[in-house]
Amino acid sequence: MTDHDQVKMTSMNYEKGRPAAKNPLKVEDLTFRDGHQSMFATRGRTEDMIPVAEMMDEVGFWAMEVWGGATFDTMHRFLNEDPWERIRTLKRYIKKTPFSMLLRGQNLVGYRNYADDVAKAFVKRAVENGIDIFRTFDALNDYRNFDAVVPVIKASGKHFQGSICYSLTEPRLGGDVYNLDYYVKKAKALEAMGADSICVKDMAGLIAPYDAYAIVKALKAAVKPPIHLHSHFTSGMSAMSHLKAVEAGVDIVDTCMSPYAYRTSHAAIEPLVMTLLGTNRDTGFDIRHLAAINEILEKEVMPKYKHLVDDSKMSIIDINVLLHQTPGGMLSNLVNQLKQMDAIDRINEVFRELPRVRKDLGQIPLVTPTSQIVGIQTLNNVLFDTPEERYKMITDQVKDLCYGLYGKTAVPINPEVQKKALKGYSRGEKPITCRPAEVLKPELEKAKNEIGDLAVDMDDLILYALYPLTGKKFLSWKYGKEEPPAEVRPMTLEQVKARENLVKKALEGELVEKPAKAAPPKSENARTFNVFVDGEYFEVGVDEVGGSPLISYIQQMPVQMPMMPTMPAMAQAPARKTAPRPEAPAPAAQPAAVEAPKAVETAKAAPEAGTPLKAPMPGMIVSYKKQVGDSVMEGETVVILEAMKMENALPAPVSGTVKALHYKSGDSVAKNDVLCVIG
Ligand code: CO
Repeated sequence: MTDHDQVKMTSMNYEKGRPAAKNPLKVEDLTFRDGHQSMFATRGRTEDMIPVAEMMDEVGFWAMEVWGGATFDTMHRFLNEDPWERIRTLKRYIKKTPFSMLLRGQNLVGYRNYADDVAKAFVKRAVENGIDIFRTFDALNDYRNFDAVVPVIKASGKHFQGSICYSLTEPRLGGDVYNLDYYVKKAKALEAMGADSICVKDMAGLIAPYDAYAIVKALKAAVKPPIHLHSHFTSGMSAMSHLKAVEAGVDIVDTCMSPYAYRTSHAAIEPLVMTLLGTNRDTGFDIRHLAAINEILEKEVMPKYKHLVDDSKMSIIDINVLLHQTPGGMLSNLVNQLKQMDAIDRINEVFRELPRVRKDLGQIPLVTPTSQIVGIQTLNNVLFDTPEERYKMITDQVKDLCYGLYGKTAVPINPEVQKKALKGYSRGEKPITCRPAEVLKPELEKAKNEIGDLAVDMDDLILYALYPLTGKKFLSWKYGKEEPPAEVRPMTLEQVKARENLVKKALEGELVEKPAKAAPPKSENARTFNVFVDGEYFEVGVDEVGGSPLISYIQQMPVQMPMMPTMPAMAQAPARKTAPRPEAPAPAAQPAAVEAPKAVETAKAAPEAGTPLKAPMPGMIVSYKKQVGDSVMEGETVVILEAMKMENALPAPVSGTVKALHYKSGDSVAKNDVLCVIG
C-alpha cells in the first residue's frame, strides 16, 4: 500500500473546522437513474426530480447519472415523457455537476445492436442535449461494440468511461474465466481505446470486499485512468466493498441519496461521508445539506412511488444473488413474469436452470440485455421444455446471440444449442466472427421512410429507430394524434394521499355502502379510481372541492364486472385487458394493473371453430406473419410476441388455414389470450 492510497486520519480540530482532504474520494450520485431504476422500475418522473435538483447540484458530486439504461425505454413507453427533454430540463436546474449516462455500447439504450448510423447519431444527439460523461459498457465485454460510439464521444470532447462488467462463475473472484488477469486485460484494452476513466461495473452486487480491494489495487498498478467502482447493494456487500476499494485507492464510487438507497439499488452516500470524515479521503460533503435533500425526497417524492418499491420481504438484502449471480433487476423481472403467468411456484426450477442456460450460451455476464436473454430463455425452458426436448422455444435474441450478433462470448457457445438455434435462421446458419454491427445495414433512412412526418426532428427519428412500436405510439401522443391512455398520466401528491386514505379505510372496514349524507352530484372534474383491496374491487370517484379531494361515491364492483361491457359472446377482437374499464380513467393504474389480469382470467372467448394459438405469456403483438386465409404448416411462425422485452416467434400448433387473427400489431395481450385460430 502506498502512502498516497492509505486512508489516514488528518488531525481534526472541531474548533477550527474540517480540513480539506489531500485526495478526496469522488462520488457519482445515481439517484436520478440507477436509483429509481433499481428501486421502482425506472418509473421516476422528471417533475419529481426538480424539487431537489438545485440542491443536488450544490453537494459537490463528481457527476450525477441522470439518463440512459432503462430510462429511455420507460419514459416514452410508460410515462409519456420525451426522454431527450429530461436532459434539457434537468440541465436548467443542475448547472455545475456534469451529467453522466449509461450507454449500452452498440445497444445504446435498447436491447439489441443497432446499426452504426443510428449509434453515431444517438451519441451526437446525447452530447448536444447535455450529456457529459458516457459510461459505456458491453454486456459481453466485447469492446468491438464500442467502435462506433467511442470516436463520437471523443470527437465531441466528452468523457469516455469504459466499463468492465463484473461477472463471476465461482462464488468469489477466480476460476478459469473471470479472474484477476481477465479484469486487468480488459482495463488495458479500455486504456488503449482512450478511456478517460475505467469503471468496474458490478450490476449484481457480486463483488466481495477483498475482491474489490484486489481488483482496484491491480487496476491502479496496471493502468493510468482513474478507477471507478459501481456496485449494487443487492447482496449486502457493497458498502464494505466501497471501503476496501477506498483503501486500495479507488478514485470514484457510486452512491444514492438514502431514500433511493439499498435493496437492489446502491449504498447510501450519508454513511460514507461520515466514514471518511476527517481522513485524507474525506468527500468534503455537508451531511446536513444531504439531510435537507432527503427530507424533501421523503415528504414530496417518495409517497408517489412507495407502492412500486418491492417490500414483499422484510429482508433488504437478497442472498440469492450470492447463490445465483442474478442482477437485481433481472430477478424482480423473473419473479413478476412468473407471478403474471401464475407460475411463481416454479422459481426454484428457474434458479436451477439459469446457470445451465448461461453456460450453454458462453458464460456471458448477466447485464442488460444478456440478463434478459438468459432470463427469458431460462423461463421458456422451464415452462415449455419436455423431457424429450430441451430448448423447445428459442427466442429470436438467443438465435442472434448464437449467430454472433451480440459479439464474442466469454467461452464458446454449446455447439448443439447453437446448431438448433441457427436452424433456418434468417441471416444464415453459419455464425459470424466479425464486429457484429458490420453485418447490419444502415437503419436511419429506412426509419425515416417508415415514420414520415410524425418524426419532427432527429430526436424523434432516433426514438422511433430504437423503439419502432412504442416509439410510434409515443410520437402520436406527443403530437396530439392520439389521446395518451390514463395509466401514463402523472399523479399529484394529493391524489396519492387520497388513494392511500381510501385503501386504509377499506382495510379498516370503513368504506361504507351508504354515505352518511347524500352525495353531492358528481362534477365533470371527478376522477374515477379503481381500488383493489385483498381481491375486492371498488370503483371510487374523487371530486376536488375547494382544493381538497372529496369522496363522492364508492361502488363495490364484482371482480368480473370490468370486462363485461366489452365481452359479447361472439367478440371478434377482445379489448385491451390491462385497463379494467375503458371509460374509467385510472390514475391509480399501477395497483390496478397488477390485479387486472386476474379479473379477466375467465374472460376468454374463442368462438371460431379450430385450434387456437394462445399467448404463452403476457406481451405485445409485434406482427403477424400470416393473414386470414393463409395456409400454415405446424411449427411455422404465425405471430411474433414481444414479452419481457424479447421477441418470441410463436409457431402454429397444427397445420391448416388461418381462420381468424384476434389482434393487430401493437396490441397488448394477456396470458392465454387467443392470438389466432387455425382450422
Ligand atoms: Co447499475
